[in-house]
Amino acid sequence: MTQDFDHDEDAREGFQHFVSVCQRCRACDLAANRQNVVVWRGNIKAPLMIIGEGPGAEEDEQGIPFVGRSGQLLDQLLTAWEIREDDFHICNIVKCRPPGNRAPKPEEAEKCRPLLTRQFNLVRPRVILLMGGTAYKYFTHDDTGITKVRGRWIQKAGYWILPTFHPAYVLRDPRRKNDLWQDIAAVRRKLSELKLLPELIT
Ligand code: URA
Repeated sequence: MTQDFDHDEDAREGFQHFVSVCQRCRACDLAANRQNVVVWRGNIKAPLMIIGEGPGAEEDEQGIPFVGRSGQLLDQLLTAWEIREDDFHICNIVKCRPPGNRAPKPEEAEKCRPLLTRQFNLVRPRVILLMGGTAYKYFTHDDTGITKVRGRWIQKAGYWILPTFHPAYVLRDPRRKNDLWQDIAAVRRKLSELKLLPELIT
């Protein structure tokens, strides 16, 4: 018991240290205009890592990823499939807001990558949900369009990776909502299959 407690405490301290490294980062030009470095929300250790593109205006203001309209849609879908705050860790390809909500440039994603790698190693997920073409491209280094790859599992080095549409895209084109819904259902099933979450009783 004491050992578990110490272990949790170490994990929290390790993560806190990582966050402070992120907060000091000035590796690319995005640092100049940020209000906050947006690192994560959810659990510091989680079976599921959800990766988006980069913070928008509200995320920049609050320092928390996916708190705007896209985040609300994402939360609705996660809740519907009984994936709880404890089960996921949400972050982005870049931790600072690209001006005008443009996609991160390759050099910005490249400069941010060591931080994402470190974060990944701290969280130790087994399942990764990549939301949108930008997350897919920079995470996998593959330029194939998201429409082609969405909903298809990639199994790599013991990880299960699922590309899907970005919720912002679904908000612009609601006909895609069912695809995102199905993909989150697939993530939920995978987490159960891997015995990382209980079976869903439907
Ligand atoms: N869109 C993203 O890709 N990430 C966020 O954190 C918010 C909106």
